Amino acid sequence: MTLKGKDFLKLLDFSSEEILYLIDLAADLKAKKKAGIPHRLCEGKNVALIFEKTSTRTRSSFEVASHDLGMGCTYLDPSGSQIGKKESIADTARVLSGMFDGIEYRGFGQKRVEALAAYANVPVWNGLTDEFHPTQILADMLTVREVFGRLKGIRFVYMGDSRFNMANSLMVGCAKLGLHFTACAPREYFPDPALVSICEELAAQSGGSVTLCENPEEAVRGADVIYTDVWVSMGEPVEVWEKRVNDLAPYEVNSRLMHLAAENAVFMHCLPAYHDKETDVGREMCERFGRENMEVTHEVFESKASVVFQEAENRMHTIKAVMAATLADL
Ligand code: CP
Ligand code: NVA
Repeated sequence: MTLKGKDFLKLLDFSSEEILYLIDLAADLKAKKKAGIPHRLCEGKNVALIFEKTSTRTRSSFEVASHDLGMGCTYLDPSGSQIGKKESIADTARVLSGMFDGIEYRGFGQKRVEALAAYANVPVWNGLTDEFHPTQILADMLTVREVFGRLKGIRFVYMGDSRFNMANSLMVGCAKLGLHFTACAPREYFPDPALVSICEELAAQSGGSVTLCENPEEAVRGADVIYTDVWVSMGEPVEVWEKRVNDLAPYEVNSRLMHLAAENAVFMHCLPAYHDKETDVGREMCERFGRENMEVTHEVFESKASVVFQEAENRMHTIKAVMAATLADL
C-alpha cells in the first residue's frame, strides 16, 4: 500500500485498510522513538503549518514529528500571515507549494482545507476544521487499540455536542473500523442525518453500528469508552455558552456515568478540557453558571480510567505516520 502524494483531509476519503495502515505505521514509529531508533524518513524536506485557530497538541505534534522525520517546519500563526486577509487560499496554496513538500491547515470550514488541497501540488493535511478532525481520530484509535488490544466490537460512546468536528470524525472512524458508536446528546445536537446515513452504510460493511441516543444512562450502559469534548468549540461566539451549558449539563461525564459503563471502561477527551477552574475560560464560565466543571468532572478526568494523556501523546505518533506515509517512499 502507498499513500505517497495523497492529501489527508477527512477519513471518508480513506478505506479502512488505509486507516489501519496509518495506525500500524504510527505504532511502529512510536516503538522506534521509544527505543531511540532514528527514523528520518523525510530527510531534507520542509513543511508549512497554517493555524487560523490556536493549538497546543496539533502544532506540537506536527513540529516534533517533523524534526524526528528529518524535516524543517515553518509555523504560520493566526495573525502573522496574509492568508484570508490579503491573500486567497488558492494563491497561498500555490505560493507554499513552491517552497514546501507538505502543508498542514487548521481553520474554519472544511471547504477551506479542500480548496487549499485543490490548488496545492503537495500533500495537504487537515489539522482541524469545524466539520472534521481526522488526525485526532487516528490518535484515538491507536489509544483504544493499545488499551483493549482491538478495535472491532468496542462500544464507543460520545457524549455532548454531536454536530461538530469531534463527533463527526469519531462517527466516521468508528464506522469504518467496526466499532459500535453511540452519539449521546439532546436531539437538536444530533449529527447531520446525511452523514449518519453514510456512516450507517459504512458500519454495515465493517460490522460496527451507529446509534443516536438522548438518554445518558441508557447510552453508557456497558460502554468500553466514554468520550467527550468541550461544549463550545473554537470559533463559536461567546453568546452560545448559556444555552449550551443548560442543554448539555445532563451529559456531563461523571463517576455515576462511568460506573454504569463496562468494568474496564476508559474515559477519553481530545483536550483541552474544562474539568476544573484552573483556566481563564473554565473559571469564568464555571463561576457564571455556578458549576465546578463543564463537560467532565475533575474526579473522572484524574481517575485511573482516564487515558487522556496517552491519547495526547499519540497525536504526535499518528501525525508523524500521516506525514511519513504521504511524503516518503516507505
Ligand atoms: N486536541 C487538539 O487538537 O488539541 P489542540 O487544539 O491543542 O491542537
Ligand atoms: N471541538 C473542539 C475540538 C478541539 C480539539 C474545537 O473545535 O474547539
